Amino acid sequence: ARHECLTLIVLGATGNLAQRKLFPSLFNLFAAGQLPPRVRVVAAARDGHSDESFGDLDLKMRGVVAPVLPSNTATIPPALVNEFLALVRFARFNAPPDDASTSPPSASSLLSDVFALTRAHEAEHADAACLAHNRLFYLALPHALYAAVSGAFYTLVPIRPPASGWTRLVLEKPFGHDAASAAALNASLRTRWSEGDLFRIDRYLGKEVIDNLLVMRFANRMLTPIWNRENVASVQITFEETGGAATAYFDEHGIVRDVMQNHLLQVMAVLAMDRPVSLEPEDIRDAKLKVLRQVRRVDPAADAVAGQYVAPAGDSAGSSSSKGYLEQSFVKPDSKSPTFAMVVLRIKNERWDGVPFVLKAGKGLGERRSEIRIQLKDVPGDIFDDEEEEEDEDEEEAAAARDDSHPGCEPSRSSTKTDPGPNEFVIRLQPHEEMYMKLTIKEPGLGVSPVPSEMELSSRWRATQLRKEATGETVRGTLSRLLLDAVFGHRAHFVRGDELEAAWAIVDPVNEAVERGDVAMATYALGGDGPEEANALASRVGVVQTRFDRRGSGAVP
Ligand code: BG6
Repeated sequence: ARHECLTLIVLGATGNLAQRKLFPSLFNLFAAGQLPPRVRVVAAARDGHSDESFGDLDLKMRGVVAPVLPSNTATIPPALVNEFLALVRFARFNAPPDDASTSPPSASSLLSDVFALTRAHEAEHADAACLAHNRLFYLALPHALYAAVSGAFYTLVPIRPPASGWTRLVLEKPFGHDAASAAALNASLRTRWSEGDLFRIDRYLGKEVIDNLLVMRFANRMLTPIWNRENVASVQITFEETGGAATAYFDEHGIVRDVMQNHLLQVMAVLAMDRPVSLEPEDIRDAKLKVLRQVRRVDPAADAVAGQYVAPAGDSAGSSSSKGYLEQSFVKPDSKSPTFAMVVLRIKNERWDGVPFVLKAGKGLGERRSEIRIQLKDVPGDIFDDEEEEEDEDEEEAAAARDDSHPGCEPSRSSTKTDPGPNEFVIRLQPHEEMYMKLTIKEPGLGVSPVPSEMELSSRWRATQLRKEATGETVRGTLSRLLLDAVFGHRAHFVRGDELEAAWAIVDPVNEAVERGDVAMATYALGGDGPEEANALASRVGVVQTRFDRRGSGAVP
């Protein structure tokens, strides 16, 4: 059989991202037999060692890549690792340092070694079975190099193989710093690439629960009719991490750019979009773009909170793990980058007008949790409401006062009454993926007191997922799934250029206001619950605090 042959070219092969995520994911795909049969890998790293011969470099980089492959797990035979390494060739390319003020090297010198090696590697393995040569470039580089590198593609013609085949570019964030720089980046990419060949990664789109949201929303008669302002009181999209910020990269960007502009807005777009025309990627992306563009301009003074963590009280001497944000070595002493942000968004359309979308992201908090929480409105004409409860209590008190010689003769209807809180639909991404609905049922026993209960939707789903991962029918890990999508040209899980610019336009006013000091920088203790101001803002827009419902349940692995 004739196959399409694939060369995967990783630019930035010794960087953190490639080492921690990309090579292990690639290897997982290889081990699960999910990659096309004729795949080759070119691992290219910036050349910091010009005196080194190419052979030395090859050896050295093998030494870097091999240890990050998961060869030590019992299920993976070392031979498989060697087989994988045999597919990899190493190349170096000239590139300025990340903060280069020096003029960049010419485009052709930037990547010419990589292209030469790619061609040689392809030629080495080319045979009659190769129907077409496809090339997937993966840019795992500091964003300062994006423009120079994509410019290099432009001058290094022909990068498209003479025979049939495609060339695609996978990019990692950050895609710019604001709407203007994202637009400039898009424009520079489009000088060489068509939008359909660009695969901008947002790892949250590779999480299974996000696809599940799509299915659940549009395939359930129970959910479809309530997904609107008539029924939904608020939507919370929350990202909380325990660890503090750990890199200068973070300080350059802050939490709004790091997490909210991309992950949380993508989640919001899938959650809030109208039914797409079809499941075709462009239809889904059109639907997401529409809702992103319908977000009303945020008034940061009223609808945003920003904060930085400080050392917890009594711990100001600070071991390195309990230092406040501004005390950390990689953070500028007067940094205006928030480690926490809450922003309330409003979508001006018929479906969502008046419903607050509360986006919250924070590092250095008490627990790790990312989730979507859709809170429904109260039932109109509720017969279990507080007023009645109070009346019941009054009556009971009166009855008890009348008849305290026979306490307990009448079953108490209100003594165990708790407010069950609103109906909720919760989709959790971290610390593990799960979904459940919070409904109100009757408390067991005499009386009709309403109590909250949970309808679990994900345990059987999770069991199936584990079984499929074990048999290799599906792959574990977000990046593996996204890589596979890029190889097979499935674009739905990647961010289109116009979506990206629309998302930046939403957060730009917040970032500008925080940087100007128009939004005061709140503080919160490292390891705590976040700034008080955030709880106050959430309450002000009508969010009922119910988040601790399953704290510590640990039910789903
Ligand atoms: C990354 C952010 O995109 O997402 C990190 O840059 C963050 O700051 C990470 O820690 C969280 O991803 P996940 O999958 O653990 O929720």
